[in-house]
Amino acid sequence: MSVSIDTFKEAMSRFASGVTVVTTREGDTVHGFTASAFCSVSLEPPLVLVCVARTIRSHDMMARSGIFAVNILNANQRHLGERFAGLVPDVQDRFADLAYETATTGSPILPDVLAWLDCRVWASYDGGDHTIFVGEVVDAGVNEMRPPLLYFHRQWAQIGPSERGAVESWPEGKEKSSKT
Ligand SMILES: Cc1cc2nc3c(=O)[nH]c(=O)nc-3n(C[C@H](O)[C@H](O)[C@H](O)COP(=O)(O)O)c2cc1C
Repeated sequence: MSVSIDTFKEAMSRFASGVTVVTTREGDTVHGFTASAFCSVSLEPPLVLVCVARTIRSHDMMARSGIFAVNILNANQRHLGERFAGLVPDVQDRFADLAYETATTGSPILPDVLAWLDCRVWASYDGGDHTIFVGEVVDAGVNEMRPPLLYFHRQWAQIGPSERGAVESWPEGKEKSSKT
């Protein structure tokens, strides 16, 4: 018996994650998308991975160019998370008004992000309807420390205090969790 997609999605929605914008460049063309399927893989060599849906525009660009940058968003950058997820209507150019810079690979580094990692594709693996791009981090940097932007249960969120034994309901008192 296989799990239903709805149950799988509901279970995964309960895994809180940070939010990144993954960018890439092919010649003069830059593109980017919001990604939460990102994690660290290896220290030596420094590797990260990002899971990219085969259907999105960045997928083939990343496969062809072999480069990408991961931009880790802070809690004040929800508008960027929405814009690069295609959730803002009528946005033709996701980079409009963004004074982005480049580092080693030429992939866009967005302003004021918590941290950025500039990568060359080190390997890519079949991940079902996604491709797992493993990137070797060739350059990285950090900006001013701020609270991170989070995504949890299909909602944008930010870190609140964690109190031992007091599990808050989410989002409006409908789903009480048992106390630990
Ligand atoms: C919080 C959040 C996280 C996302 N994470 C991923 C991800 O890890 N991988 C992915 O392929 N798409 C992810 N998406 C969806 C893409 O951002 C979205 O499909 C985007 O519009 C793709 O770019 P495109 O319109 O240029 O094809 C995420 C969306 C949101 C809102």
